[in-house]
Amino acid sequence: MRIRPEVFDDRAAVYALTHAAFAGIDPMVEPEEVGLLQNLFNCEQYDSRFSIVALDDTAVIGHVIATWGEVEGEALLGLGPLAVAPEYQHRGVGSILMQEIHDKAEEERVSGIVLLGAPAYYRRFGYGPAQAQGIIPTQSMWGEHFMVRVFDEARLPRGTFHYAKPFRSDR
Ligand SMILES: CC(C)(COP(=O)(O)OP(=O)(O)OC[C@H]1O[C@@H](n2cnc3c(N)ncnc32)[C@H](O)[C@@H]1OP(=O)(O)O)[C@@H](O)C(=O)NCCC(=O)NCCS
Repeated sequence: MRIRPEVFDDRAAVYALTHAAFAGIDPMVEPEEVGLLQNLFNCEQYDSRFSIVALDDTAVIGHVIATWGEVEGEALLGLGPLAVAPEYQHRGVGSILMQEIHDKAEEERVSGIVLLGAPAYYRRFGYGPAQAQGIIPTQSMWGEHFMVRVFDEARLPRGTFHYAKPFRSDR
């Protein structure tokens, strides 16, 4: 398996694997994460350093992205979607993608990354409740699912977090 930054030519494969990973009961219905990704790739808050693919030989089998949101005027990364092609799940691909985006964040001196996700999955990557760190979600019902991984506590902005614009119709 290889890991590298996503390039434009990967995007069709990224949409396909994201569709498969998030598919509901009817596989013909496009999950909202696919449209979200299309908008994220085209928004101002997209940063190619934080869009990473996993490949098996030449096929793209996994993808993770973080885009710039903001807290009180200061930039903070928001992670998601993360997706691994169903036939490649449970082999550590998701974990490797998470490790890679964290390594990149540390290399680029990012203070933290927030996400909305399952605590049972993301705790293992060092995420904890964001509100305990003073980062407030726009929707209180997110509760413990709104999480942060802190890289530099002193530089972490505190206040209400707003995701990149494409998220905002539902976040
Ligand atoms: C979540 C996802 C990215 C994990 O990718 P993966 O390559 O299978 O992850 P890993 O192999 O590194 O880790 C697998 C472990 O994660 C855990 N896990 C996966 N999804 C989980 C969830 N929703 N809640 C809790 N734990 C979860 C399981 O313990 C699993 O262990 P197992 O293989 O013993 O069952 C993948 O399952 C996926 O694409 N799911 C659909 C899309 C999605 O839910 N994305 C995350 C939200 S943005």
